[in-house]
Amino acid sequence: MVNWKIEENGFDEEKATGLGNKFLTGNGYMGIRGTLEEFKREQFPAINLSGIYDQVGNGWREPLNAPNGLFTRILAAGEEYALPEKECLSHKMTLDFRHGIFHRETAFQTVKGKVLLETQRFASMDEKHLICLKVKITPSFDGSLEVLTGIDGDVWDINGPHYDKVETGTEEEVICALGITHENKDEVVVCESFDAAFAAEEVTESAGRKIVRHLKLTVKAGEEYTFYKYISVYTSKDLQGYKEEAKALAVQAKSKGYESLYAKHCSKWEEVWNVSEVLIEGDDEAMESLNYSLYHLHSIAPRHSKSLSIAARGLSGQTYKGAVFWDTEMFMLDFFLFTEPEVAKTLLKYRIDTLEGAKKKAKGYGFNGAFYAWESQEGGFDACSDYNVTDVFTGRPMRTYFKDKQIHISAAVAYGIMRYVQFTGKDDLLKEGGAEVIIECAKFYYSLLVKRVNKDCYELWDVIGPDEYHERVNNNAYTNRMAKLTFDSAVNILENYTEQDSVLYKELYNKFKDAAEHLYIPSPDKETGVIEQFDGYEQLEEVTVSEVKSRLLHEKEYWGGAYGVASHTKVIKQADVVTMVNLFSGEYDKDTLYKNWAYYEPRTEHGSSLSACMYSMLACKCDMAEKAYPFFIKSAKADLVDGGKQWAGLIYIGGTHPAASGGAYMTAVEGFGGLHIENGTLKAESKLPDGWSKLSFKVYYLGELHQVTITKEEARVEKIN
Ligand code: BGC
Repeated sequence: MVNWKIEENGFDEEKATGLGNKFLTGNGYMGIRGTLEEFKREQFPAINLSGIYDQVGNGWREPLNAPNGLFTRILAAGEEYALPEKECLSHKMTLDFRHGIFHRETAFQTVKGKVLLETQRFASMDEKHLICLKVKITPSFDGSLEVLTGIDGDVWDINGPHYDKVETGTEEEVICALGITHENKDEVVVCESFDAAFAAEEVTESAGRKIVRHLKLTVKAGEEYTFYKYISVYTSKDLQGYKEEAKALAVQAKSKGYESLYAKHCSKWEEVWNVSEVLIEGDDEAMESLNYSLYHLHSIAPRHSKSLSIAARGLSGQTYKGAVFWDTEMFMLDFFLFTEPEVAKTLLKYRIDTLEGAKKKAKGYGFNGAFYAWESQEGGFDACSDYNVTDVFTGRPMRTYFKDKQIHISAAVAYGIMRYVQFTGKDDLLKEGGAEVIIECAKFYYSLLVKRVNKDCYELWDVIGPDEYHERVNNNAYTNRMAKLTFDSAVNILENYTEQDSVLYKELYNKFKDAAEHLYIPSPDKETGVIEQFDGYEQLEEVTVSEVKSRLLHEKEYWGGAYGVASHTKVIKQADVVTMVNLFSGEYDKDTLYKNWAYYEPRTEHGSSLSACMYSMLACKCDMAEKAYPFFIKSAKADLVDGGKQWAGLIYIGGTHPAASGGAYMTAVEGFGGLHIENGTLKAESKLPDGWSKLSFKVYYLGELHQVTITKEEARVEKIN
């Protein structure tokens, strides 16, 4: 029986931060960390907002956390009973990941007797600006009890405070908090309406950045005291009149009532599952972790926008500056493309709309065309700093070259756009700016080509490939192949979408064709079949991952950069050549695919959550489902298992891993299910691991929904009418 719930029993303060990610709920507009209502900033509660950023001084520019409208604490005899300050008798949290419902129940021993506190909440899938919270209190004594519930504007920030000011106020039955940001004076408004099923004395109190309703109840042992909060969140970027809208929504939600909003929210979730659920017969654990991954992707999908992308840590906080990386196009896109193509379009539209930022970046380095931001924020601003890692020994920032040299980002954008065209069969995106993006990306690579006097081919020098531990290398196989894909795509665009007598065509066609034909792509070694990751990789020190690890002087020391322990060895951070041969597997025979898998796997640290799925998918292509399986589980459980990387030195780097979630999906459908396009037809192939008797899912192809069913014996793709 497949379980759509995860559970955590008992309270451990140490685990609270990690659980904030694991129990996340969200609706694309905002992500609510799976933290407790009574938490203050020290425990990292957050209602993290998409697409709005702020910078304070020289700190990192990062997304905003809204004033926390969930804030609730209970008091007995004037004393607050809240975690983690007070011990509890029992504590349990659950997340229904079928419907994005968070639930907790905690029993406290107060001076007056026991009190059970239960809450249930969701970020509405039906109304992006709305959070609904239900609170139930059951005392075991007769007497009085107090509740503080309201909006806490003293939010958790990594590089804040992002609000110069938080103004609080009351209007009729609604309480509000308005945060004004530092950099652009943007405003975030949170309003809350309240509905109690019991009588209580109520006073509204505001102090500092907080506004609360202070309730005094006379209670009876064993009775339940339930109240509801309807919390609306808007920013000044959403629309004019956002403050009025916020108030109106809070009032309106109250009149609709919790149960009806809950039902609507759940039915929206059922709608998305109706297309996207993946069924695995014979392996409940795999099915649960995979659909849990999909839950996370759904919770951060920008369905409310026509042009917005997903940050590398989703909506789980400010880690990685809330920025968009190649993760979106290379790891998450397929899921949306296959199950909700409109969302895929929204993600790619974001790149089209940030083209100006990419052109500016290219120009800044003296290149042509579009060099997309490595860590993209609104407008295509590159949030990646020149010093992106802190040296644990000196505490000094280390010069890193991710922003300057990870040129493969522009190719990821071109790849994403072409993949959209291939799977939807539509050219709407190309017409809406996608064609221009591809041309600009090709111009960028063209301006980077290096030609040696004694060679016929073009090369790309001084780059960083997916493996970030080896900086500033020449001819990274992945980068070169992806640049060729960009040239090929640009040639295709020029041939099919421009007039042959146009200036654009005449000026660029021959250049791009020549570049596509002559760009050097490292080929498999004649004897070993191995493709060298970059020029000179073979000469690096041959050493195991564990040996490299044992050379660390500090457990949090950075492995790459100038003197990192891996930099001068063959040990790599994540799938690099393997990513390339997986993407272009049709260009190599199975033996070569296998040889590269077998060569690079033992040399890979898998230090990035993006690594495992690539090894898994390639293993499937080499007919090694059993070898693929543990990597698949690793990807699918990236946010389920405790103990993921939470800190890098003093920097909090925890959060959810949507690229791993997307990677798990790709592994299931394209790896074990062998889904691919063959001469314009959608095909599947059975590559199921031992325990799986059946794999079935639905995908959109050329605008039509298809049912894919794979057993050990056959793989069927049928149109659903
Ligand atoms: C990886 C990158 C990835 C980034 C964000 C880094 O650790 O090396 O490939 O894009 O994290 O997920």
